[in-house]
Amino acid sequence: MTTPKFDPKRIVIALDFASASEARALLTLLNPSLCRVKIGKELFTSAGPAFVKEVIAMGFDVFLDLKFHDIPNTVAKAVAAAAALGVWMVNVHASGGSEMMRAARTAIESSSSKPLLIAVTVLTSLSQTDLMELGIAITPAQQVLRLATLAQQSGMDGVVCSAAETAMLRAHLGDAFCLVTPGIRTEGDDANDQKRIVTPVDAILAGSHYLVIGRPITKAADPGGKLALISEQLHGSFSNLC
Ligand code: C5P
Repeated sequence: MTTPKFDPKRIVIALDFASASEARALLTLLNPSLCRVKIGKELFTSAGPAFVKEVIAMGFDVFLDLKFHDIPNTVAKAVAAAAALGVWMVNVHASGGSEMMRAARTAIESSSSKPLLIAVTVLTSLSQTDLMELGIAITPAQQVLRLATLAQQSGMDGVVCSAAETAMLRAHLGDAFCLVTPGIRTEGDDANDQKRIVTPVDAILAGSHYLVIGRPITKAADPGGKLALISEQLHGSFSNLC
């Protein structure tokens, strides 16, 4: 497994766009030595694997955020296809179970590129009431810890987690387990629809390895300048780690 703690490119920009042309317009403004990018279900469904390859050819590491959740054989094949595209990170739902996650790990180990393999625990859109409806009679935080522990035991490199969960997961799962955290805002940014936000520096202090940042950069008047500013803040605070 890699040691993402020493990675200088901690910012992962969410390319939440409907088309390749919109994403391309942003990418031309960004410096790939300062960030990575995340391609999710909307852009992937519209632009496809060819666009993922194009972004990689532009010099960006790609987190393919498709949250695979299916029978073990299907997820293993999907993860292998993602690895063959050359992505840097790919993810699955931990609630698919340990056998599914282990099958995904085996697929990664058989690939030549070996992307980081990350699990999603409890979607932050799910409340306690939603979990009760699903027959899960514990708190979201307890379920997050249960699934993150299972993910670690099943060979995942880390999990996506909210800022509110980062310190708790870091304490239970150790320093090497990769925590990928959205809900990041700098001073003065609009929270948009995010309920609990943290600054980039606070997220890393709480134990995040990678910060998923969307609108604060993608909707900025000067996206390249905003990226450089956040990158400088992190470098100033954590240059001993980067
Ligand atoms: O624009 P913003 O910075 O809020 O974008 C955050 C990104 O992180 C989006 O792509 C969103 O789907 C993703 N995300 C999130 N909360 C989670 C998991 C993923 O905001 N719990």
